[in-house]
Amino acid sequence: MVSSMFLHLFIAAVAGVMILLEFELVNGVQPQLNNRTRATLMAISEELGVSGWGANNSDFCSWPGITCDGETGNSTVEKLNLSHRSLRGNLTFVAQLESLKSLDLSSNSFHGPIPPELGNLSRIEFLDLSFNKFGGFIPRELGGLRNLRSLNLSSNQLIGEIPDELRSLKKLEEFQVSTNILSGSVPSWVGNLSSLRVFTAYENVLDGRIPDNLGSVSELEMLNLHSNQLEGPIPASIFASGKLVVLILTQNKLTGEIPVEIGNCTSLSSIRIGNNGLIGTVPMTIGNASSLTYFEADNNNLSGELVSDFARCPNLTLLNLASNGFTGTIPPEFGSLMNLQELILSSNNLFGDIPLSIIRCKNLNKLDLSNNRFNGTMPKEICNMSRLQFLLVGQNSIKGEIPHEIGNCVKLLELQMGSNYLTGNIPSEISHLKNLQISLNLSFNHLHGPLPPDLGRLDKLVSLDVSNNQLSGNIPAEFKGMLSLIEVNFSNNLLMGPVPSFGPFQKSPNSSFSGNKGLCGEPLLASCGRSLGNDREDYHHRVSYRIILAVIGSGLAVFASVTIVVLLFMMRERQEKVAKSKSAEPTEEEETNTRPAIEAGNVFIDNLKQAIELDAVVKATLKDSNKLMTGTFSSVYKAMMPSGLILLVKKLKSMDRTIVHHQSKMIRELERLSRLSHENLMQPIGFVIYEDVALLLHHYLPNGTLAQLLHESSKEAEYEPDWPRRLSIAIGVAEGLAFLHHVAVIHLDISSANVFLDSNFKPLLGEIEISKLLDPSRGTASISAVAGSFGYIPPEYAYTMLVTAPGNVYSYGVILLEILTTRLPVDEGFGEGVDLVKWVHAAPTRGETPEQILDAKLSTVSFTWRREMLAALKVALLCTDSVPAKRPKMKKVVEMLQEISQT
Ligand SMILES: *[C@@H]1O[C@H](CO)[C@@H](O)[C@H](O)[C@H]1NC(C)=O
Ligand SMILES: *[C@@H]1O[C@H](CO)[C@@H](O)[C@H](O)[C@H]1NC(C)=O
Ligand SMILES: *[C@@H]1O[C@H](CO)[C@@H](O)[C@H](O)[C@H]1NC(C)=O
Ligand SMILES: *[C@@H]1O[C@H](CO)[C@@H](O)[C@H](O)[C@H]1NC(C)=O
Ligand SMILES: *[C@@H]1O[C@H](CO)[C@@H](O)[C@H](O)[C@H]1NC(C)=O
Ligand SMILES: *[C@@H]1O[C@H](CO)[C@@H](O)[C@H](O)[C@H]1NC(C)=O
Ligand SMILES: *[C@@H]1O[C@H](CO)[C@@H](O)[C@H](O)[C@H]1NC(C)=O
Ligand SMILES: *[C@@H]1O[C@H](CO)[C@@H](O)[C@H](O)[C@H]1NC(C)=O
Repeated sequence: MVSSMFLHLFIAAVAGVMILLEFELVNGVQPQLNNRTRATLMAISEELGVSGWGANNSDFCSWPGITCDGETGNSTVEKLNLSHRSLRGNLTFVAQLESLKSLDLSSNSFHGPIPPELGNLSRIEFLDLSFNKFGGFIPRELGGLRNLRSLNLSSNQLIGEIPDELRSLKKLEEFQVSTNILSGSVPSWVGNLSSLRVFTAYENVLDGRIPDNLGSVSELEMLNLHSNQLEGPIPASIFASGKLVVLILTQNKLTGEIPVEIGNCTSLSSIRIGNNGLIGTVPMTIGNASSLTYFEADNNNLSGELVSDFARCPNLTLLNLASNGFTGTIPPEFGSLMNLQELILSSNNLFGDIPLSIIRCKNLNKLDLSNNRFNGTMPKEICNMSRLQFLLVGQNSIKGEIPHEIGNCVKLLELQMGSNYLTGNIPSEISHLKNLQISLNLSFNHLHGPLPPDLGRLDKLVSLDVSNNQLSGNIPAEFKGMLSLIEVNFSNNLLMGPVPSFGPFQKSPNSSFSGNKGLCGEPLLASCGRSLGNDREDYHHRVSYRIILAVIGSGLAVFASVTIVVLLFMMRERQEKVAKSKSAEPTEEEETNTRPAIEAGNVFIDNLKQAIELDAVVKATLKDSNKLMTGTFSSVYKAMMPSGLILLVKKLKSMDRTIVHHQSKMIRELERLSRLSHENLMQPIGFVIYEDVALLLHHYLPNGTLAQLLHESSKEAEYEPDWPRRLSIAIGVAEGLAFLHHVAVIHLDISSANVFLDSNFKPLLGEIEISKLLDPSRGTASISAVAGSFGYIPPEYAYTMLVTAPGNVYSYGVILLEILTTRLPVDEGFGEGVDLVKWVHAAPTRGETPEQILDAKLSTVSFTWRREMLAALKVALLCTDSVPAKRPKMKKVVEMLQEISQT
């Protein structure tokens, strides 16, 4: 402790000396004060490792992150913004900047307790310490910040109660302490903060009641307390001012009724109160909340009839009342909800018809009425809702026939009609549902007649269940066209004849075919021509999911060996290239005397032009110690600018001379790319060309790559299972790639090493410029250079030598498998010639369960995680199908993954 204090004093003293040496008179008004401020800033810079301060410029008001009092020109530091800089260290010096009005230290690596000295910043109005690793208690000294208007301590590891001393922060407008480990109750004085607009304390372990004066004297607009252990009722006071826009109380232990005062908030847009113990009905006043777009109250004990008043909220987009005790029928008024996209009423006691009026909801995407007592017929107009993707009406008492018009629901991804009283034949029009992929479930009905052979056209379908009906005839050989099948169930019908010889069928448990009149052949015990024995094999525990091993049947062996030879050749070639380019790079001694001349260069973003020195960029890439990694097409360097800005610089290997020879074209492409904006793509912000080298500049991303997250951190003890983060990374990458495909760019090197993570773990897909610059269809590169990274290369590249969108989907599927298994795409442990994809696809033949494939550290945490992971595994299997045409489009992949994260 003492020695660290001396160290700080020493640093401060050294800083002071440095300033004396460099001082230039900038402002004659307050030299004394300025000297002191500068010394404090230098001490901060030393302690926290802030880059770019001091050096050549004694006017600290121009240092990055610092804003001085603009009006008086006194050079007092008014704002300090050091967010997103990977800083750590002792913050105590910051408290000496007494004139601070705004301090943003969010998204860094600070840990340990929040220094109580920050409570001395008496002028401060804005304090943001979120997204760090601060621990310990919230210091009561912060109660001294009498001018504070915004306090954000979210996403740290703070413990204990919210201290009562904060009650004196009378001017607070925004108070955010979410995602910590705070306990105790929500203090009642929060209700007395008369300026409070935003209060978030979600994801803590708060208990007790929500104070019944919360919002009564303030202008509360946003209240988010989800995922705590709060009890008691939702206080009517939060609706008193009528200003509430967002209310999120999901996942607590709240009881009591939804207050009728809810209707006083005409600007309420989003209400999420699911997973509580709320009772009573939804008040009719909900119709007064006419701005409502999102109402989610699933998994409560709500009862009574559905109020037609929801129809008075024309912008309602999602209505989720699933898993409650609602009864009665669907109000016909719901048909006027033209913006409704999801209507989720499953697991209630609703009955009657599916009202024709609902069909007027033109934007409906998901209709989930499953597990109710609906007892009408299936309206033949149902597909007038042309956007329907999910039609889920299983487990009801629906009568009559499946209308032929069902074939018009061309967007359907999932059709669940199991466990009803449906009669008649299976209409062959179902085969028109070309997008059907998640599931077709007609089980437990009274369907009879033959299986329509046309169903074989559903080549994207993963799960087919027609069990427990009275279907007769053969299983048509045409069903072998359902190339994506993973799960099938034909059991308990009147089917006969041989089970067609088709991978997905023979790999299924015999229970998928049992209980029929006369089915024979594999996987049943009865060989064809003899009667069925008893189903003794049911006794053997078989895995409940099935995976296509291979599609091409007898051609497989030849195909596979060709693939392997080509892949090995490609890999060797690549290694040679890496070795060559390594030896071609200058050594440290050489670089000091040979400074290459820059031929061309530019920074595309105007407000970064000042902060980037192209010479310094070149210099940084000559030092091996700055090298972060070596990729397929480039080496990546970290480059620190004199301004303090840190860049990530990609050095394209000299084998890509073509780029340099097409300079002007390349520059045009880069500028275009820099404007191609999507939050999951890593855009170039500038470039430098010298000799035969091209450098591409990007923002530096502190959290490294997905490959590092998955395969390096997992070796350390601190690896924490975090499936939701992984799923959101998977979705982000898919979105970035879907966008690229949308603008007709095919990526050339998709791998987890090219997925960079920002400080919030948002993924950014990199190397897109390479895809653009080397686009083989434009003749700028030879195809042999663009195969991608080993383990991610789709099998068809071996013989087509053509980079395609479905090829990208395959590579993406490999990333998804990496995320699910935490295993490398290529690993000797899989066996000779077996990569991750083959290893996963062959799991059933090894008799392995999904748990043995999925990373057990994640899949055993909770049932929900396991279920989501299994669903994502299905998507990954679709993506890595060996037949390119069977892989879904990236847009579909995004939709399927989003569906997983929502349910
Ligand atoms: C931080 O620095 C101050 C002043 O130099 C010192 O008193 C304090 O003990 C330090 N805190 C830690 C955690 O080292
Ligand atoms: C501030 O710096 C100036 C320039 O070096 C020097 O002349 C002056 O004495 C310093 N003031 C104090 C209080 O250190
Ligand atoms: C910054 O200062 C160093 C020496 O302290 C000097 O070599 C360099 O040229 C200076 N750069 C600028 C832009 O003034
Ligand atoms: C800035 O300077 C003016 C005039 O020199 C003075 O009146 C004012 O108090 C100073 N402000 C601060 C914050 O020091
Ligand atoms: C701090 O800078 C970041 C960008 O680097 C910006 O997003 C944030 O809004 C700034 N904070 C304040 C308080 O201005
Ligand atoms: C709030 O709602 C309640 C119940 O609907 C009503 O009696 C009261 O008049 C409303 N208050 C205001 C200010 O509109
Ligand atoms: C519905 O949304 C539109 C577009 O955002 C908006 O203009 C309109 O005012 C909203 N309607 C209501 C009743 O809030
Ligand atoms: C549906 O069920 C309700 C309640 O059980 C009943 O009153 C109604 O007659 C039934 N309708 C049909 C068409 O069976």
